Amino acid sequence: MQQVVPVALGARSYEVVIGPGLLAEAGARIAPLLARPRVTVLTDETVAALHLDALREGLATHGIQAEALALPPGEATKSWPQLIRATEWLLEQKVERRDIVIALGGGVIGDLAGFAASILRRGVRFVQIPTSLLAQVDSSVGGKTGINAPQGKNLVGAFHQPSLVLADTEVLGTLTARDFLAGYGEVVKYGLLGDADFFEWLERQGSALASGDMAARVEAVTRSVQMKADIVARDETEQGDRALLNLGHTFCHALESATGYSDRLLHGEGVAIGCALAFELSARLGLCAQEAPSRVRAHLKAMGMKCDLADIPGDLPGPDALLDLMAQDKKVVDGQLRFILARGIGEAFVTSDVPRDTVRAVLEDALAMC
Ligand code: GLY
Repeated sequence: MQQVVPVALGARSYEVVIGPGLLAEAGARIAPLLARPRVTVLTDETVAALHLDALREGLATHGIQAEALALPPGEATKSWPQLIRATEWLLEQKVERRDIVIALGGGVIGDLAGFAASILRRGVRFVQIPTSLLAQVDSSVGGKTGINAPQGKNLVGAFHQPSLVLADTEVLGTLTARDFLAGYGEVVKYGLLGDADFFEWLERQGSALASGDMAARVEAVTRSVQMKADIVARDETEQGDRALLNLGHTFCHALESATGYSDRLLHGEGVAIGCALAFELSARLGLCAQEAPSRVRAHLKAMGMKCDLADIPGDLPGPDALLDLMAQDKKVVDGQLRFILARGIGEAFVTSDVPRDTVRAVLEDALAMC
């Protein structure tokens, strides 16, 4: 059932291996990359309790010794203090230039460990072992690494590609239903941005996937990673096409900021709502048929996901305040907001040509339903 997706980046090419049982195979998969049989592992306390022993056993099958540091779980770990702690710990472990650092965890650990690896001794290699659905389909692939700054999310970082990604779909079984569905928001995003057939497949297979069907999970992660790998191979540093991966994210970042990056709204939930709003905006601008946003929302609803602003608990600021938050997005170029809009399901494109009044009207109507 395992699949391999290559990420073609010349000398920095690597493989994403997807399927059940990969923790047990970690030794066999990682041994060829090692100059000596030892690795360091950065993880978080929650993931360590669930999966670190299995990883250690998998590495031990090939005589690989592992030292691990478990950081506190949660977004607050993507910070200067934890980066300093992780980097100094790696130096204390005497990690050398030819060694491998393993990131075992979700997006927070993958981003932080990758960044630590990128600055340690001017760059050591690292392997991503993503344990959340969101990390398996998005953040572990493509080499974006970094931390948050007091001024905003992901503002300090580097492009540093992993040497290997092991996406063990069995570990998804330990996620809460909410975390799984939040990751599914990113899966839906791939169908919506570039593959109408995949979206149609998700409409049919989504519930099997959510209830644990392993073949469906492997297929969904593989198709998502394949699409991301193709885009990253075309545009590694986001000069063009890679921005398509931000479908739904301009709205999402404003909503995450408005809800204080709290438990009120998980990132993947914000992406799902943001995708629905991006399609609504596209329909208002006459770019796609009105059926498209209705179909997006219908699928999210059928999956039991948040799809409207009304699904976010608590009060939200008004349309102008949300627009101001959108204007702080990283994708602002020369003061112009860049949006990912769509001509239909699977047909997204990047544009700066969006009248502020139309965005405001979409937000005003969405807020009126709260
Ligand atoms: N998560 C968006 C990207 O990797 O470009």
